Amino acid sequence: MLFHACNNDDAADCNFMPVVATSSTASNPCLATGSIEIRSPIDADYLYKVDAGSFQTSTLFENISVGKHTVYVKDSNGCEGSKEVSIDTIASGTKFREVATILKIRCSLCHSGLNPQAGLDFTRNCDILANWNRIQARAIEGNPAPMPPAGLIPLAERNKILEWINSGHTFEE
Ligand code: HEC
Repeated sequence: MLFHACNNDDAADCNFMPVVATSSTASNPCLATGSIEIRSPIDADYLYKVDAGSFQTSTLFENISVGKHTVYVKDSNGCEGSKEVSIDTIASGTKFREVATILKIRCSLCHSGLNPQAGLDFTRNCDILANWNRIQARAIEGNPAPMPPAGLIPLAERNKILEWINSGHTFEE
């Protein structure tokens, strides 16, 4: 989607605002690690911004989250061009996907839905990523008491979880 707006008294001045072109990189689903770079129009007099941020001279925007964003370009007459940019989620790693599957099968009975136990929904990637240490304590070490409460899951599955934790417990792992 693209539209042109003008803060100038003479709207005709804004007819020449060029089409905005960008390149972008994907983001972690829970941390804003994506980026957007404006490729065109580039001019020393132009200012750039993303969403509700402030206009800046740099064409590079970092710490961009997954989802839709709007990029604005403003020329020295105050004429603006804009473009909607969609930031994708980075690919998940094999180890993370295995852990997510195990937790979905073994934990989601109590840890999902409207009122998940302890407020933790293990069908959500961000809940898994933010609570890897609690998952280790409860589901691997059984400390202070095992999860699931009825007893630890099979050793092979615990080892899969531990492997992911030991290799950095990231989404990409
Ligand atoms: C049968 C229901 C049930 C299942 C299945 C279950 N949990 Fe829980 N979980 C609970 C309840 C109830 C609590 C809150 C009481 C407590 O902390 O012991 C809880 C709390 C937790 C907490 C938060 C408390 C803390 O120590 O940080 C974590 C983490 C947790 N569970 C992890 C898991 C994991 C991982 C699994 C799957 C491997 C799992 N649970 C499976 C019922 C369940």
